[in-house]
Amino acid sequence: MNNRLHAHIGTLRQLEILLAVYEAGSITAASETLHLTQPTVSMQLKKLADGIDTPLYHTVGRRLIFTDSGLALIHTAREVMNSFQRLDMKLADLRGMKAGTLKLAVVTTSKYFIPHLLGPFCKRHPNVDIQFKVGNRQQIIDRLYEGSDDFYVFSHPPADSRFETLDFLPNPLVAISASKHRLSRKKNINLTELFAEKLLMREAGSGTRYAIEEFLKGEKVQLRSNMTIESNEAIKHAVMSELGVSILSAHTLAFGGKSGLAVLNVKQLPIETNWYFVWLKDKPQSLIAETFFNYVESEGRSNLLIELKRLGFS
Ligand code: PGA
Repeated sequence: MNNRLHAHIGTLRQLEILLAVYEAGSITAASETLHLTQPTVSMQLKKLADGIDTPLYHTVGRRLIFTDSGLALIHTAREVMNSFQRLDMKLADLRGMKAGTLKLAVVTTSKYFIPHLLGPFCKRHPNVDIQFKVGNRQQIIDRLYEGSDDFYVFSHPPADSRFETLDFLPNPLVAISASKHRLSRKKNINLTELFAEKLLMREAGSGTRYAIEEFLKGEKVQLRSNMTIESNEAIKHAVMSELGVSILSAHTLAFGGKSGLAVLNVKQLPIETNWYFVWLKDKPQSLIAETFFNYVESEGRSNLLIELKRLGFS
């Protein structure tokens, strides 16, 4: 390639279209998000591919498989878009306005309490838009390495010197059963007894599952599992319907309701973990991100603790 590649890449809009297709996983889905027709989207991708003189993707059945060149262009497109976003924030900062977008990517289990932090913050800063992505631990780790968000929320962030973390709230994992289950009336249940029941587990890639597996390394019990269910709410409903028992963050009950469910009195539980805010050390923070972080540290965290206490989960 020559050293004037940018002259062949086309427009920023084409890069936006490429990112939308990559994130949506298909041209059809991206056309809907972008309010464009499918032929327009395909045409713009073709122009981009012609510009770099190599295909961006192949189709296998109905799936798009991006080529290495396609992925490299996606990486650059993200950097370009991020730097425009930073410029946008910078200009807003220079105008002295706290307006722009706060970008958070959080694990599914933390979506129960993050809105309780965002509510008061947004009331105070009505011009701030929020972009809130939710995924399981593995999906949020992938986003963390891409670095397109201001903050990430996990209970088990990857150990890497490029990231900073703020330990901001305890996250106890408790065992639950249907409220009419015989174990719900028992005290001092041991793990062997608990795992004699069918255990409903989150999917591979989930932080909850990771915490349970790490905890079990130190215990001499065999899991007889299992049913895998990819959502905390679906697990709660399955437990309520007596399909089995489970171990979940107490916050799924505190903020998501616990009717029809009982927290079991298991000797070795809860599994004590913590929630962390994580961000990239070298990424300059916008004024909005800094304001949000200060709010979390100074008030948001203590307000959440008060709310948890009020809900009977201190
Ligand atoms: P999960 O993550 O929603 O992927 O299970 C929860 C956690 O990190 O503890």
